[in-house]
Amino acid sequence: MTVEEAVLIIIQAFWAMLPAYAAGPVAVLTGGGSPMDGGRNWRDGKRILGDGKTWRGLAGGTIGGIGIAGILSVIVRGAGNNDLTDFLMPNWETNLSWIFVGFMMAFGSLFGDFVKSFFKRRSGKERGSKSPIIDMYDFILGSWLLAIVFANPWFMETFWPEAYAFPWHMLVVLIISPLLHRSVNIIGYKMGKKDVPW
Ligand code: CTP
Ligand code: MG
Repeated sequence: MTVEEAVLIIIQAFWAMLPAYAAGPVAVLTGGGSPMDGGRNWRDGKRILGDGKTWRGLAGGTIGGIGIAGILSVIVRGAGNNDLTDFLMPNWETNLSWIFVGFMMAFGSLFGDFVKSFFKRRSGKERGSKSPIIDMYDFILGSWLLAIVFANPWFMETFWPEAYAFPWHMLVVLIISPLLHRSVNIIGYKMGKKDVPW
């Protein structure tokens, strides 16, 4: 692999993850109001998801992520086909495509996040408490799960193109996402949007 190829893989991986990356921070900005669990408890007497998972956050983050996918799609179409742009949604020709892929990545991201909260509550962890590692990967696993199941050709072409025997794009995402996650959360904390810097 050449240096140029490696740089391209990093840019491509980051770019394709943007709708999933955007969903969480947009949920933080738009969240509030009715919690998704309706304030109800699970069998163990603890909250199902907790007050940190709200319908407004879920809707806002999903729509925000889809919006990012739309912007990326416009950029890709405008730039025409070349090495750098021929990867976001290469085999989705209809206008619904970026909405569809954007939904899977953004909603999937928040899906991973609230599934994590469910298990956090079951293990007795309060809302906002730290669960290292899993906090950094929940949204990746969620977005990848939905994309693998419902947008498989796009997922494969984007994160494991046939040209490579190894899924380098996926490795890049697994390495850069925790760093990004941590930085964004520290910014959110300093802005007063998050109660804790994680
Ligand atoms: N948020 C929301 N709805 C979501 C996700 C996030 O409203 N579906 C908002 C909430 O205000 C939440 C904040 O974004 O407090 C930070 O999100 P996150 O760190 O994921 O939630 P926590 O409050 O830390 O809760 P948990 O312990 O369940 O992760
Ligand atoms: Mg949290």
